[in-house]
Amino acid sequence: MSDKWWRHAAIYQIYPRSFADGDGDGIGDLAGIRSKLAYLRDLGIEALWLSPWYVSPMADAGYDVADYRDIDPVFGTLAEAEELIAEAHAYGIRVIVDLVPNHCSSAHPWFQAALKARPGSPDRDLFWFRPGRGEHGELPPNDWMSNFGGPAWTRVADGEWYLHMFDPEQPDWNWENPRVHEDFAATLRFWLDRGVDGFRVDVADNLVKDPALPDVPRPAAGVAQLPDPTDAPVPKKPEPWRDQEGVHEIYREWRKIADSYPHEVAFVGELWDPDPIRFTRYLRPDELHTGFNFAFLSCAWDADAFRAVIDETLTTHAIVGAPPTWVLSNHDVNRHVTRYGRSDTRHTWELTKESHPADLALGTRRARAAALLSLGLPGCAYVYQGEELGLPEVQDLPEELLADPRWKRSGHTDRGRDGCRVPLPWSGEEPPFGFGPPGTKPWLPQPASWRALTAQAEAEDPESMLSLYREALARRPEQRGEAFAWRPSQPGVLAFEREAGLACLVNFGPDPADLPPGSTVVLASGPLTGGSLPVDTAAWVRLP
Ligand code: NOJ
Repeated sequence: MSDKWWRHAAIYQIYPRSFADGDGDGIGDLAGIRSKLAYLRDLGIEALWLSPWYVSPMADAGYDVADYRDIDPVFGTLAEAEELIAEAHAYGIRVIVDLVPNHCSSAHPWFQAALKARPGSPDRDLFWFRPGRGEHGELPPNDWMSNFGGPAWTRVADGEWYLHMFDPEQPDWNWENPRVHEDFAATLRFWLDRGVDGFRVDVADNLVKDPALPDVPRPAAGVAQLPDPTDAPVPKKPEPWRDQEGVHEIYREWRKIADSYPHEVAFVGELWDPDPIRFTRYLRPDELHTGFNFAFLSCAWDADAFRAVIDETLTTHAIVGAPPTWVLSNHDVNRHVTRYGRSDTRHTWELTKESHPADLALGTRRARAAALLSLGLPGCAYVYQGEELGLPEVQDLPEELLADPRWKRSGHTDRGRDGCRVPLPWSGEEPPFGFGPPGTKPWLPQPASWRALTAQAEAEDPESMLSLYREALARRPEQRGEAFAWRPSQPGVLAFEREAGLACLVNFGPDPADLPPGSTVVLASGPLTGGSLPVDTAAWVRLP
């Protein structure tokens, strides 16, 4: 297992809470994951990324970490995590764990110590504590807004305020302080010593702040928006809470640690940077290995738009020699079966907020085509759990069950991200659909219609999404090289060639497309009609 796997792997994202529940408490866990490793091997993925499994009060589903070097009891134990890593390796599957370095949980012992310490003390300096503004310090130190809504500052008993770019339960670390560097280096080593193969870095561009903490002029107060990769104008200067020069030094430190291990270790950064050049600066040879391609995820269902994103991705990544990644969904965005079934097929944070009518049959056809597109491109491809089953977004969860902090912090205007986090359906005719032992009540309810989308039902159906993913993943290693060339194609169609005469065609419409003369179809996302490729269909073909 020593090749540079991170240049080409198909990587499956597990959101532990919702993947599989071994003990029947309604929340997924490590026992559940271990029971499904054979499923993942048969699916054909090469690595797993596990969303946080650490000790956490779960204010943001584990992205609020109270102990970076232990497992939350709701998921299991450290010993089970070690066994999981070993078992995955035995199946030839690498393991990437989630690292959350921008903030911790307010329950973290160092934050608790900071609360008890006096203003100006070394314990407070590990975070961003500041006096307030206004006559009595009653106003926040600046006008920054939390990504979940409301001010990014909360006041503590002695009158100081602390910074949290997400929930108040997620205080931001002060990366100006060397102890923070030392502690994260120790956490990296802790997990590398246990054999993990990589780290997914949460909000990777946010760690360093402009220490002057300046105000940012903004048009109106409200829920702060993460920059939208398709819509946002490229900022001339990044906002003072992200993409500061100092953040690159952190990744250089981390890269040295990763490179000091005998096995191939890789980082993947969560970077919502709308500027592709600033994005790839994180992927320089001595920094992170890869970053999630959110421009691809956010792209409208349109041939020209996809062509532009693919061109931009390949060109900018080539400058730094980093492999591209291709991402369609994750635990933060509406599932793409639903997105592609809407009249507005883009991902934007605005559209994520509410339910929008979707034609799921259309969305599923397009999602099948998108699978062959994303798995057909050179680089790493990510598969978010349930995407291989064609799960749609659950748009009608009862409000009283919504657990995402966005719901509360937005004053109940943003329903948040729970609709893509509904526990997976594995088998059977009714909830919990094998998510847990019989009688399990999943932490979010599964729609009854998911009986047709269980892994078991789909495994038996050669036409299912699962069968398509299995076949595509099984054939993907044939295209492991990095070669890529566009082929001439009619308007509305993307066609590109990979290794050994293999080509991928995707028809975005409006007309059926001709296949290259003399080619043979290796795999198609839907039935071909009269030898041509229907609209919203993709195919991998072997050229003569
Ligand atoms: C990005 C994660 O993907 C998201 O789920 C989380 O809420 C924020 N970072 C804060 O950690």
